[in-house]
This record gives sequence, C-alpha cells and structure tokens, in this order.
Amino acid sequence: MLRVVRCVVCVNRKAVTALGNGANFSTGSAVPVSKEKYTRIEDFYAGKSVFITGATGFLGKLFVERLLYNCKDIDKIYILIRPKKGQDPGKRLQKIFDVPIFDKLKETRPEDLRKVTAIEGDITSPELGIKDADRQKLIDQVSVVFHSAATVRFADTFDMIMNVNLEGTRKVIELSKNMKKLDSFIYISTAFSNANNLVIEEKLYPPPRDVEEVRRFVKEHGTDEKKVNEFLGKFPNPYVLSKALCEFLLDQDRGHMPSIIVRPSVVCPILHEPVKGWTDSWVAATALFSNVARGLTNAVYGREDVVCDLIPVDYVTNLTILAAAKGNKTKDVLVYNICSSAVNPITWQHASNLFLEESRKHDYSKRKQKQLLLSMSPAVVKSMTFIFKTIPLFFADAGLVIRGKKPWHMKEHNRAKHLRDLIYALTTTSWTIKCNRTLKLIESLDDHDKKQFQCDPCKICWNEYMKIFAYGVKKYLLNGK
Ligand SMILES: NC(=O)c1ccc[n+]([C@@H]2O[C@H](COP(=O)([O-])OP(=O)(O)OC[C@H]3O[C@@H](n4cnc5c(N)ncnc54)[C@H](OP(=O)(O)O)[C@@H]3O)[C@@H](O)[C@H]2O)c1
Repeated sequence: MLRVVRCVVCVNRKAVTALGNGANFSTGSAVPVSKEKYTRIEDFYAGKSVFITGATGFLGKLFVERLLYNCKDIDKIYILIRPKKGQDPGKRLQKIFDVPIFDKLKETRPEDLRKVTAIEGDITSPELGIKDADRQKLIDQVSVVFHSAATVRFADTFDMIMNVNLEGTRKVIELSKNMKKLDSFIYISTAFSNANNLVIEEKLYPPPRDVEEVRRFVKEHGTDEKKVNEFLGKFPNPYVLSKALCEFLLDQDRGHMPSIIVRPSVVCPILHEPVKGWTDSWVAATALFSNVARGLTNAVYGREDVVCDLIPVDYVTNLTILAAAKGNKTKDVLVYNICSSAVNPITWQHASNLFLEESRKHDYSKRKQKQLLLSMSPAVVKSMTFIFKTIPLFFADAGLVIRGKKPWHMKEHNRAKHLRDLIYALTTTSWTIKCNRTLKLIESLDDHDKKQFQCDPCKICWNEYMKIFAYGVKKYLLNGK
C-alpha cells in the first residue's frame, strides 16, 4: 500500500537517494555544488534572446511571463504564433497579456512586455511558414529555443498528430541548428513518452518505431482507426508515440546543438507564482477532478493505489528555464523528468478526495458526491455511472426542458465518459518516474535561485496543493461557464 502523503516536506533527501539510481544528494546545503563561479539564472539570460514555440498555450504563456518577470535583463522573447480564428499574430500576442498571470508584471514593469515579439508561423507549414526576414533575425539573435508547440489532444487523428508533433519538431530543429548564438535547445516532451516502461529514468530510450516506417504509415493509413490501433501496439495513444519519436529525432538530428529534453508528467495549475491556482488547460487530471466535483462522473477505471503523477505548471516552466541555463554541459542530450511519482507520490483516490473536499467550499455543484470510485471492472464502472449519473442527469435535463431552459447535463456527462475512456492508461497504471537529475540540478542552485525558481517535487504538500487546485479550476476555468 502506498504511504499517504503528509503536509510537510514529504520525502527527505536520504529517502530520495534510496529511491534513485545511486546519485548522491547533499542535505540542504545552500552552497552550490559546482566549484565553478556560480552564475545566477537571471544573469545567464541577461542580454540574451530566446525563441518559444507554443507560447499561446498553457505552458507557453507561463514561460513568457516567468522569463520576463524573473530574468529582467533578458533581451528579446520571440514567439511563434499562427493566425487563428480571424486573429493575426499581433492581436493574439496582445490577448496573451490579458491573462491574469501577467498582472504583476504589468503593475511593476509594464514596459517589459515590449520585449516580446510575435513571429508569424505555423509548425505544419514548410519551413515553419516564417518570413525570410524573421528567420534571419532568429538565426542571428536567438540563444535559447524552447520548443513547446504540439497538439496535446489524444483524440486527434494519427496523421494530424504526426504532422504537428513529429514533422513540426523536425522543422524547429532544422531552424535552430542554423542559429549562430545557440546555447540551448529545449524540447518539451512528456514523462509518458516511454509509457511502455513502468519505471522511467532520465535517459533516452530506443525509438519505439522507425521514423520512416511511421511516415509511410501516415501516408497509407493515417486516418484508419483500426489500423492505427494495431500499429500503436503497447502505446496508449498516438500523442505519446509522437512525443517518443520526437525525442529520438532530436537525438539523431541535433547536429552540434546543446540539447535538453524536459519531460513533465500531468501538468496542473500554478502552485506558487505568479498567481496561485491559475490554469487555462482542461487536460487529463484537471478535467477529471472537475467532472467529479461537478457531479458529472462518479467512477473511472483504476484501483485505489494507482499513483497519479501530478506536477504544477510553474514547476515545469521553472525547471525548464533552469535546465536551459545550467544543464547542457555535455554533448549528449540531457533528459530532465519533472514529476512527482518517484519522490512524493499521491494516488488518484487521495488526490480526488482532497479536490472534492475543497470543491464543496467553492460551489461546484449542488449534487454532492462523496468520492470517486476506481474499479478495474467495466461492469462496475458502467453500471455505477448509469444508475447514479446517467439516469439522474437525464431527468435533470428533462426538468430544464420543461422549464423552457437549455439542457446541458447529458452533453457534459457524455464528454466526461469520453474523457474517462481517453485517460484509461493514466488512471489504471502506476508509473515510477525518476527525477534524480532534476533534483541534483535544484540542489546545485544558490538560495536566491532556489526561491525564485521553485520546482522541487519533494516539497509539494498535496493537502495544500489540492486546495489551490480546486480553487483555481473554479475561478479560472469554470467561472463564466
Ligand atoms: N499539459 C500537460 O499536461 C502536458 C504534459 C506533458 C507534456 N506536455 C507538453 O507540453 C507542451 C505544451 O503543452 P500545453 O499544455 O501548453 O499545450 P496547449 O495549451 O494545447 O498549447 C499548445 C501550443 O502549441 C501551439 N501549436 C499547436 N499547433 C501549432 C501549429 N501548427 N503551429 C504553431 N503552433 C502550434 C498552440 O498554438 P495555438 O494557440 O495557435 O493553437 C499552443 O500555443 C506540449 O509539447 C505538450 O506535449 C504537456
């Protein structure tokens, strides 16, 4: 049985070492481990320009904000933005700044927002669809690339996912290889890119498929669901396969680029800075917990002791910013897992209980639910869902129709069931995702940087965090719905 995680520094360094692969951590020294002169993170970025893909996304917006706020002498931040829904990149850039995470910066140093420049482009277009003049600017000026753009929708078709994630990454690598001042190329992967292993280390794994074979498959059967499922084999979905292939591609095609792979697990709302609880992403755990709290789901596939590897989004962006500055001292691709399961595990059951408890204070739903049921039996999950959710929600909709109102319960309930099935692998499998290199990097920081770029997964207090999580989802995602 898993230990219940307590509200203190949940696992100490000795315990971490015991879990790890032999890396030796000192106990809480404030002195940097390296004998070289210590360079602060903000000094590394001073005068440098960075290029970010995916900056309109959940992680990407926080990359922009954290770099501007914490690295105040950064020169320029170029962000790749495609035109979307009739809005040009310039307009989309201004919309990014409307998000509450930028409020602090607007109050203190509003002029710094001018450091951000939109570069029009689309990672599915030839040469990223970037104009020649912009391309030259990037080649001449950029020192760090954060490649975060991807489609994260598990339900997208195989060919679409490979086109955006795999071919898009290939094009970003090609562009970055030409950058004259490049210090670091960072690829944001996922901790589940090697989900066929139950213990995941911070290392590259052999590619699950030959990239050329995948390209041929895309051409021939890219939208044929049955063939795709056969082709996936042990991989839970095309998204995860695409991320694994990207890791391999980076290793193979990077040339002389100092390259880093950051693998976050299930990314959740901000824990600390700049705005506790902020999120704009409905993926995986956020949607599941919210569905439970709103009375739309009561049962999913899984067991009480299955660990869910949650990580706050500010931990991911902070670790990534650190890794780019401190991490690439070797010619190998360095992998950093930013995950909680190996050092500070919490189960789906425990996390959902904590979320539910807090959600009751935030008026999620009148339909009070005691807890989420996890069962491996399809008969149990389906019948519990039908009896205690589908039937009452059907009648709730009928009541709305009788009163001349628009029904919504069944639509949302059906979505919740779809999500339950999409995240089957996540809720039924306990992965242990090691993060020794990440911890060692954190340990090497001075006290100022440790505080400024908090990202130690050992220090997450789940009782506190799940309160912030439930509050944030209600405030930033559900209000106005
Ligand atoms: N969220 C998680 O739980 C999680 C966990 C592990 C790893 N990751 C990884 O973290 C990265 C960021 O994820 P996220 O949660 O921030 O995703 P997100 O919110 O969906 O953002 C995706 C970003 O990619 C951009 N993008 C997609 N297709 C594009 C295209 N054709 N051209 C240019 N840009 C394109 C999107 O731009 P538009 O606004 O134009 O669509 C958006 O900025 C991804 O690589 C993901 O695999 C995420």
